[in-house]
Amino acid sequence: MKNSKRLIFLSALAMAAASPAWADEGKSWYTPKQAEDGHVLFNNHCAECHRPDLTGAMGPALKGATFLDRWGGQPVESLFQFEHEKMPANNPGSMPKDDVMAITAYILSKNGLKAGAAPLDEARAKALMLPK
Ligand code: HEC
Repeated sequence: MKNSKRLIFLSALAMAAASPAWADEGKSWYTPKQAEDGHVLFNNHCAECHRPDLTGAMGPALKGATFLDRWGGQPVESLFQFEHEKMPANNPGSMPKDDVMAITAYILSKNGLKAGAAPLDEARAKALMLPK
């Protein structure tokens, strides 16, 4: 009995250690619908320069180590504002905020952050810090 409890405790510790910091287990960031809408919008407006799999071409990769290094430790708001003001690079500032928010949700989903019940909006984007 004593030993099996100890084993459960140790495996819980091992699982906690195994989950990557960036995934920030337990937290939710956007709704599944936002990420789905964002996927379509991304393919129409962003993928020509960032590739449909976000690995980058004319524009840099929007997932992976370099991307996470650049945005980690900042609120989602910073990423959202950059996209809203500077992208798409061939027509900056042309996209409605809701569309950019959905695209941001999609980019977060591709970087391992989880969907949940609460939509990503400007207030939550300010409060949610991207994990380092
Ligand atoms: C015409 C090509 C082009 C299109 C279309 C485009 N981008 Fe970009 N994007 C770039 C280039 C070039 C850069 C790098 C320049 C810079 O950082 O100012 C960039 C940089 C970025 C970055 C910063 C990446 C980093 O970590 O430095 C983000 C985020 C981004 N784009 C998102 C988007 C989104 C979202 C869309 C669609 C709404 C989009 N881009 C459409 C060319 C493009």
